[in-house]
Formats: sequence, structure tokens, C-alpha cells
Amino acid sequence: MSGNPTSREESFLVTGGTSLNGEISVAGAKNSVLKLMAVALMAEGRTTLTNCPGISDVPAMAEVLRHLGCEVEISGDTVVIDTPAQVGHVADDKAAQRLRASVCILGPLVGRYHRAEIAMPGGDAIGSRPLNWHQNGLNRLGARTHMDHGRLVAEADQLIGASYELSFPSVGATETFVTAAVLAKGTSVLRNAAREPEIVDICDLLNEMGARISGAGTHTITVEGVEGLTPVTHRVIGDRIVSATWAMGAVMTRGDVTVRGIDPMFIHVVLENLRAVGADVETGTDWVRVRQTGRPTARDIRTLPFPGFPTDLQPMAIALASVSEGVSVVTENLFEARFRFVEEMVRMGVDAETDGHHAKIVGREQLDSATVWASDIRAGAGLVLAGMCADDVTEVCEVFHIDRGYSDFVGDVRALGGQIERVATYR
Ligand code: UD1
Repeated sequence: MSGNPTSREESFLVTGGTSLNGEISVAGAKNSVLKLMAVALMAEGRTTLTNCPGISDVPAMAEVLRHLGCEVEISGDTVVIDTPAQVGHVADDKAAQRLRASVCILGPLVGRYHRAEIAMPGGDAIGSRPLNWHQNGLNRLGARTHMDHGRLVAEADQLIGASYELSFPSVGATETFVTAAVLAKGTSVLRNAAREPEIVDICDLLNEMGARISGAGTHTITVEGVEGLTPVTHRVIGDRIVSATWAMGAVMTRGDVTVRGIDPMFIHVVLENLRAVGADVETGTDWVRVRQTGRPTARDIRTLPFPGFPTDLQPMAIALASVSEGVSVVTENLFEARFRFVEEMVRMGVDAETDGHHAKIVGREQLDSATVWASDIRAGAGLVLAGMCADDVTEVCEVFHIDRGYSDFVGDVRALGGQIERVATYR
């Protein structure tokens, strides 16, 4: 893994005026690998994951698992998790707080060991992250859950298969319910389940390990409980958010980028939107090519659960709108605080305003270079793309956020012809 430094005191200097051109391969999906690592808790022995991304969240998740008693080895793009017969059930508070995705150990721990204690994730830069639907799902399966000193505590004598209907197709709550139900007695049915490709990847791994899950990728997931799971080797699916970042970057900078290692169906709606703003899009079984010649045209975009436009690409949608011809309205339907990004775009001279879930953006031919702050992974990536469309050098601060989700961001931008440098912020 590339093991990027993750200091809060590092910035990227991005020189505007070049377009992104060339080919790039994407690594495995962040939002899959962290969950797959947690699933390894459910089977005694060595689970091997390949095509893992070299992002800082992977060693952070390894720490969470080590605190529970697993041995974790990271080497190149392979992560091996050796799970003992019995693991701890209390997630280390600090390791868990550092990594919001550590909530994904909840279902596996309750499923196999019938107890779990994890620190409640705090408020996030993109909005609050409550766990009420995770709790409700576990309660339906017969667990008892309560809050104690800032921790979510779950316990069960025996998990019994049950039906549960989510009021919203939450990715995390779907994962918690399904992973907990795998070793429950009897059959469980989850309605209004999330349909994200990462959910399918987790269910594929579980089925390879001996689980009986059907319907992953549809609204209804059925889980027939089994006695136990055995460890396997599994390849992580390509990262659709990273892939779409480069595709959208190609459109913003009027370039020509081919992304390999991604199933185009994972970003179908994004590609449809890029076609609509003027891009020429070609796809193959595991690649996409996106070319843009003139200025993109404005387009209204709203984020929705999969297969809709992903909230994780909302900052890129705003960055794209900022250089498009005309006025765009971007509607955020998932995370209320995700419009912090708009303030940073205003620093870059964009005429933008927000009202509740909506942001109205008037596009400009060229942006003003400025010093801007990344508030989360995707906002950081969006700011770099915006910087590539500015008149001079833009400094993007707090790039440790970007390192949490992109394996080698600087290397990738440079490989595509962009000018970017990692520097100390206080130099
Ligand atoms: C996952 C992704 C994140 C992505 C999001 C939506 C990971 C590590 N993160 O986050 O990158 O942006 O899906 O695609 O995979 N909610 C509740 N109660 C709950 C659970 C969720 O109210 O118990 C709300 C959330 O506050 C949010 C919405 O449901 O407004 C969607 O959240 P969810 O789909 O659960 O996202 P995550 O799994 O946290």
C-alpha cells in the first residue's frame, strides 16, 4: 500500500489550467473493504481480501480488529485477517472514533458473539450519523440494545430470524441487520434494503463463507440462518466513487480519461448525467471512457440512494456546476451538512447559495484560485478538481481527509497530466 502521510498539516497545491487525460486503474472500494474486514470477525481462521485500496482507513480498521484480538497483515493490496476462536466485544473507543465505519463491526460481533459495545460515532462534517435503525434491526432479531456512557451496547442470548422494514434504505443499517442475521436461528427478511454495489459485495463474501443470503441488490434481502462460516479469499469490487471522481474531472477540465477496474453499471446514473452535460461516454465490461470538448452545460442533480446519484459525489457535482454554462440546482437528500463545500466554492469566486437541501450554482468559465479547506474525503477531492479549473495555484488544506478515501491521489492526478504537489501547510 502507498501509505500516504496523514498529517492534518499538509496541503495540496493545485495548478489550474491543465486537463486530465489518459488511463487510470481504480483500486477496491473503501465502502466495501472496511465492511469486508469486519465480516472476517465472523469466521475463525484466515480471511484474505485482495484488490484492497491503499487508503489510511484500512490500517485504521486493522487497528479496530487488532484491539478485538485478530491478527491483521497488510501487504500490497492484500489484507489478511486471522480471527481467533473468541474475540473481544468492546471496540477501542479511540480507534472506533477515528473511523466512523467501525460501526460495521456491530452486526458481525452481535451475530457471532452475541454482544458488542462500540463508541457512538460523533457528529460528522457531513451531518449527524444516528444508529437508531441499526438498533431497531438488532432488536427485531432478539438483541437488547441500549446506550451506556457514550457507547452503544448490544446483547443477545440467541438471535432469532425476523422480518424488518427500514423506513429508509440505509446502507449501514442494512449491513448490520444482514450480518447479524447470518448466524441467527431461522429466516430473516429485510424490506426496503439498501441496494448499493457494496451491499452486494458483502453478501457475496458472506455467501462464499457459507451464508445463505438471497436478494442482495434488490429491495428485499432474505437470510436463512446457518450454523457457522469458514474463511475464504475474496476480491474487493472497484471503487465507484473514485472512478466517478476521475470521470467528472475529465468533464470539468475538458479532458479524456479512461478508468479501468470498474463495472460501469455501478456509476450508470453518473454517466447519464455526464452525457447530458455534453460528454462523450463509452463503456466496456470493466472500464469507462469519458471525453469532453466544449464547456459543460448546467444540469440539476439530486442525490438519492443507489441506483440514484451518490451523495458522495455531491461535492463533485457542485464543482462541475461551478464551471458549467448556466445555472444548476443540486439537491442533497441524504446528509444535511454536506453543503459546507459550497462555502469553499464561494472562496473560488463562484456565485452560489444554499437553502435547506438545495444549492443554486451559477457557473463560471474559470474559477479564482484560493486557499480552501477540505471538510471530508469527497469535498477534498472536489476542491482539487475545482482547483484544476482555476486561474492560478489553489491550496487545498487538511488533505488527510482525501488520504482516507483515495489510495494515491497525487500520483493519480499526475498520471493524468494534472499539476499537484503535497506540501506542509505551515511552510
Ligand atoms: C454509507 C457510506 C457513505 C455514504 C452513505 C450513503 C460507508 C462507510 N459510508 O454511510 O460514504 O455517503 O452510505 O450512500 O459505507 N440514518 C439514520 N439512522 C440510522 C442510520 C442512518 O437516521 O440508524 C440516516 C443518516 O443520518 C443519513 C441516511 O440515513 O441521513 C443515510 O445513511 P446511511 O445510508 O446509513 O449511510 P452510512 O451507512 O452511514
